[in-house]
Amino acid sequence: MKPLMIDWKSKALEWDLEDPLASFRERFIHPPETIYLDGNSLGKLPHGVARDLEETIQKQWGQKLIRSWNDHWFGLSNRVSKKLAELLRVTPTELIVGESTSVRLFQIAQALAHTKCFPSRLVTDSLNFPTDSYILDAISKQTYDAPTVRVNYKDTLRADLNALKSKIDSHPGIYCLSLVSYQSGYAYPIKQLNRYAASNNSLIIWDLSHAVGVLDIDLKETETKAAIGCTYKYLNGGPGAPAFLYVDAHILKQIENPIAGWFGHARPFNFESEYQPASTIQKMAVGTPSILSLVALEKGLELTLEAGISKIRHKSVLQSTFLYELVTARLEPLGIAIESPPESDQRGSHISISHPEAWRITKALQKGTPSIIPDFRPDRFIRLGIAPLYTRFSDLLIVIDRLEYILSTKEYLQFTLEKPHVT
Ligand SMILES: Cc1ncc(COP(=O)(O)O)c(C=O)c1O
Repeated sequence: MKPLMIDWKSKALEWDLEDPLASFRERFIHPPETIYLDGNSLGKLPHGVARDLEETIQKQWGQKLIRSWNDHWFGLSNRVSKKLAELLRVTPTELIVGESTSVRLFQIAQALAHTKCFPSRLVTDSLNFPTDSYILDAISKQTYDAPTVRVNYKDTLRADLNALKSKIDSHPGIYCLSLVSYQSGYAYPIKQLNRYAASNNSLIIWDLSHAVGVLDIDLKETETKAAIGCTYKYLNGGPGAPAFLYVDAHILKQIENPIAGWFGHARPFNFESEYQPASTIQKMAVGTPSILSLVALEKGLELTLEAGISKIRHKSVLQSTFLYELVTARLEPLGIAIESPPESDQRGSHISISHPEAWRITKALQKGTPSIIPDFRPDRFIRLGIAPLYTRFSDLLIVIDRLEYILSTKEYLQFTLEKPHVT
């Protein structure tokens, strides 16, 4: 029997026309002749951010100077935190923005280790992002004089939940996992694991960097006790945008900030000689907030709230399924392997593919017209990030057409293996 020909183009155009989020694309700046599939690394620039920054720099900083702290800046961090708290469905007294994800992980892991409420060990797994492992290792050495325990899975791209649970049984403690794995896009069953950890005297710190803004996450409903994450990916907060820390109110009462800076003081502007922590999550603040970065982040966050996270997730699933099907049908026969789970409920919003020539293929994508920008992760992965606020179904089809051409003609052989710092 002849295989059924799928008319991918009509499908893509039809879905773009029916897309309830289509108008959000106009709210971002788009470089000409470019298809951007790297919103999983750095989101696009929303319209209005440059104007807001201009106002902050020229008027508030340039003209009003220090008076702007009272008039504009002092409440900014709380206002932005409140919006993120709304997105993650926690109370604003449990979530704070600021610092980097790395610093936030250090603070919460160190603080929890010092409570002695959990068995004395930090644990992570082989799917976690390097900075998380480095930070946990440093704390483990300093606090427990022992290495971090690592759960290694046979499969390098998805978690073996039985292995993870049996590690929690045998090695209860403070765990840190990335809700969506940076390499494969694998998404953990967060509620199931939180419950499992809680019933085994353990707690999981979730790194939401690759999940926030694309997964519909209710931190309360999932019984999450602590989470960190960055905002420069799907929240479109800009390069180096402030990270966040969420701590459940009950746990918050039991921890102390290991970087007890003056902004975490109950009354920072009394300049008291004794440190007295604030009572809410404000006690995890450190120093002066980065005002320009907070201004840039606010717009991206508002766009996500306006679009609605359930609609964003719905579109992300449709698009990643479309892309998955296209890769299977048209690129697998040309030597591409798919490294993301086939089940949409076990995926974030990027599809990872691999090929021994992944770097040169990435270069060929970037150099064509339109220029296609995914990202490359050593040694053989190309991540195709879907940002539902601005990615179109038809963009995904163009990317597949181009990849099919590059692979079938071996166009990538024209490029050198030389790499810049950031790939
Ligand atoms: C899962 C994860 N955690 C942490 C980071 C790094 O965080 P930061 O640079 O804000 O410390 C990244 C960066 O991409 C990441 O993907």
